[in-house]
Amino acid sequence: MQQIDLSSIIDPLLAWYDQNRRPLPWRDSPTPYHVWLSEIMLQQTRIEAVIPYYHRFLSVCPSVKALSEVDGDQLMKLWEGLGYYSRARNLKAAARVIMERYDGELPTSYEALLSLPGIGAYTAGAIASIAFGLPEPAVDGNVLRVITRLTADESDIMKETTKRHVTASLRAIYPRDKARAANMTQALMELGEQVCIPNGAPRCEACPLGATCRSRALGLTDRIPVRAPKKARKIQLRTVFMLMHEDKVALRKREDKGLLSGLWEFVGTEEALDAPSARAWLAEQGIIADRLIVAPDAVHIFTHIEWHMRGYFVLCSDAPREVMSQPLVWVTRADLRESYALPTAFRSFVRALDDFCSDET
Ligand code: ADE
Repeated sequence: MQQIDLSSIIDPLLAWYDQNRRPLPWRDSPTPYHVWLSEIMLQQTRIEAVIPYYHRFLSVCPSVKALSEVDGDQLMKLWEGLGYYSRARNLKAAARVIMERYDGELPTSYEALLSLPGIGAYTAGAIASIAFGLPEPAVDGNVLRVITRLTADESDIMKETTKRHVTASLRAIYPRDKARAANMTQALMELGEQVCIPNGAPRCEACPLGATCRSRALGLTDRIPVRAPKKARKIQLRTVFMLMHEDKVALRKREDKGLLSGLWEFVGTEEALDAPSARAWLAEQGIIADRLIVAPDAVHIFTHIEWHMRGYFVLCSDAPREVMSQPLVWVTRADLRESYALPTAFRSFVRALDDFCSDET
C-alpha cells in the first residue's frame, strides 16, 4: 500500500482545533493519569456519557495510588453502566504495576506504556502524545475515518493492516513540538467527532481539510470508510429469576472468567423456560416458589452475542443460601442500587423489580 504524504494537513488542522476544541474535563488538566483514565473510559462509550463517570471515578480514585488500592466491588460499582468491565479491572492492575515499578508515575515511553495491562497501541499513543508530547499517533475509529476519507483509501477499516498503514502514515508526519503533537492527536479525534462524522453526510463545508480531501473531490464520502460486514451475533436464550423473600432479593456473583466476570447477577439459567418449566427448575434447586410472576422480557446486545431473556419474580417462603452450589446474598433494593454492581444487561429487570415492589406495597 502506498504511503501518502499527509504533512499538508497539520497546520490547517491545528488552527481549526484551536478554534473548535470542546472544553472537556480531561483537557483542563491533562496529567498522565487523567489522560489515561479518560481514554480508557472513552473506548466504546460516548463523550457525554463518560463525563459524569469520569468525575465520580476521580472523586473516589484521585491518584494512581488510590486506584491501585480501591476495593474490587467498589471499582465495579464505579464502572456500573459503562460496560466492558475488564477495562476497569485492567486499570487497577496497571495502577499496581505503576506503583511497584514506576514509583506511582506513568512511564513516559510508548513501549513501557504498551506493556501495561489494558493499554494497547491506541491508548499508548494517546497517553504518549497528549500527556508527554511524543510524536505518536493514536488511531481510533474517528482517526481511521478521517484519514481513509482524506486519502480515498477503500481498505477495510476493520483490518489490522489498514490501522497499521494509517498509523505509519501519521507517524511519519507527526509534529516534533510537544504541544503540537498533543493537539494533533486530539484534533484528529475532534474532527472525526464534529465534522468528518460517521453514518450519513459529513459536514464537508465546515472541514479545514476540505481542499485536500480526495473522497470529497471524488464524491466517495458516503462509501468511505469501508467496513466489511460483521458476522451475525450469536443469540443466547436465558431465564432470569428475581428471587424475593420479605424485602430482599437474591444475588450471586458471576465466575471470575468470561463475560461480565466477577459482577453480581440475579439467579438464572441459560435456557428459555416457560412458567411450568421455570417452577420445575426452581424445585430442582430446592427453591419453593409461593408465587411465580412473569416479568417483561428483555434483550441485551453485546459485541458478539445477544441475550434474549425471560424474567420471573419469584416470591420465596424462605431465603435459600445457595443455588447450584453457588452462594447467594440477600440484599434490599437500596443495597442493590448503592453497593452492588449489576451489569447493564440486567438494568430492565432492576427497573421491573422496582415497579413490581411499588405495585405490591
Ligand atoms: N475520543 C477519545 N479520546 C478523545 C479525546 N482525547 N478527545 C476527543 N475525543 C476523544
